Amino acid sequence: MLWGGRFSKSLNQKALEFSSSLSFDVALCEEDIEVSIAHSAMLAEIGILTNEEAQKIHSGLEIIRDEFLNETWKPDPARFEDIHSAIESHLKELIGETADKLHTGRSRNDQVAADLRLWTKKNSLQLKNTITELQQQLLKTAEEHTGTIIPGYTHLQRAQPISFAFHLLAYVEMLERDKQRIQFVLDEADVSPLGCGALAGSTLPLDRNFTAQKLGFAKNSANALDAISDRDFVLDFLNACSVGMMHLSRLSEEIILWTSQEWKFVRLSDDVTTGSSLMPQKKNSDLAELIRGKSGRVFGNAFGFLSTMKSLPLSYNRDFQEDKEPLFDSVYTYFTSLEVMQLMFIGMEINSERYTEELNGDFSLATDLADWLVLKGIPFRQAHHLVGEVVKLAETKKCKLNQLTLDELKKIVSIAIGIDETALKLFDISSALSRKKTFGSPNPELVKEQILLWKKKLTR
Ligand code: ARG
Repeated sequence: MLWGGRFSKSLNQKALEFSSSLSFDVALCEEDIEVSIAHSAMLAEIGILTNEEAQKIHSGLEIIRDEFLNETWKPDPARFEDIHSAIESHLKELIGETADKLHTGRSRNDQVAADLRLWTKKNSLQLKNTITELQQQLLKTAEEHTGTIIPGYTHLQRAQPISFAFHLLAYVEMLERDKQRIQFVLDEADVSPLGCGALAGSTLPLDRNFTAQKLGFAKNSANALDAISDRDFVLDFLNACSVGMMHLSRLSEEIILWTSQEWKFVRLSDDVTTGSSLMPQKKNSDLAELIRGKSGRVFGNAFGFLSTMKSLPLSYNRDFQEDKEPLFDSVYTYFTSLEVMQLMFIGMEINSERYTEELNGDFSLATDLADWLVLKGIPFRQAHHLVGEVVKLAETKKCKLNQLTLDELKKIVSIAIGIDETALKLFDISSALSRKKTFGSPNPELVKEQILLWKKKLTR
């Protein structure tokens, strides 16, 4: 028991089980040991512990770490409030009275904040790497499909042709922004709260720089009250996971569409699809659906914990304990979703010719004719109107744009001086993408350049 002195009864068993965080904060075990090693080393440095005492504490903590990792020690949530008290109690079992000196000059308030910050740093770094791996996979697929023409949509209506590579590169960009959000979280978490005590620092001459440095924190928090009360880094992490999952959910939705009988564009490998227990012909994109579904829970975690924090007065309140489950769940869900998304792309079969014929002469090339007329000197609004009439004619004739004759075009676009065969060539899908001039467009040369740039950037 960590705080027995002023109590005449121990905590009611139901109350203990209700309030214990051990079943989930056991995930902070290694961080907690690291923090305690740094703290006790600092206590020895300033002469509060002898070197022998610090040594004893360290070796005890190392034993606990080993026991935890090889699962010979499993702290019992029915006995302890949290991982911090479970470790301290086990340390006492191992090294005796010296363990009572470990908690000198600290509170579980600065301790749990330090643990969680270390956990956040470690996991955000790993998440960034996992995102990079997905980006690399998308680039690999993109590289094979710079010439695979697909319809680009707005309002889920065919808008203009693009390439599959270009489409995937859009996700590479999104994933890069996800990494930036996570980097922000990492920097934010990189501040040591150790030495802030319960809320107001300590009368002991604790060396905060020593612990911060030993644990690899970039700096110390400057206000103890804020350091103890601050869970912004958790909120930002939850938000970063939410935006990241939102991106994965959009990609999942596209995979679901691409693999449908209506799209017939993509086939997922058998090892990432499932069948139906009733309909023998079914092959479902369940993993994509699950990523899409799980994103809802991750958003809920972010909003849930934001609601927990609202109205909490400074500094520590036990409500803070509610930070861990949503955080661990969101980060785990995001991790596994990224990995599964990568898996889906690894064995993906893409029907690269699916749209070539269908988009040849398609209405989605209409803008190209309008642009061409602009270059002939026709004001864009008028060009837009004229091409609208061209589309209408093709629609009534139930034909494609490339099935119209030059005479028919001339009749509509009579004010267009010099309309000739080159106008009809605009409806040829094979040159549609290479006609794009602007930076950031699906021009295959530009897309190839982008792929190269990304590959270089991501291998650094
Ligand atoms: N289990 C607690 C948490 O996760 C640890 C800190 C407890 N601090 C306290 N003053 N009761 O927040």
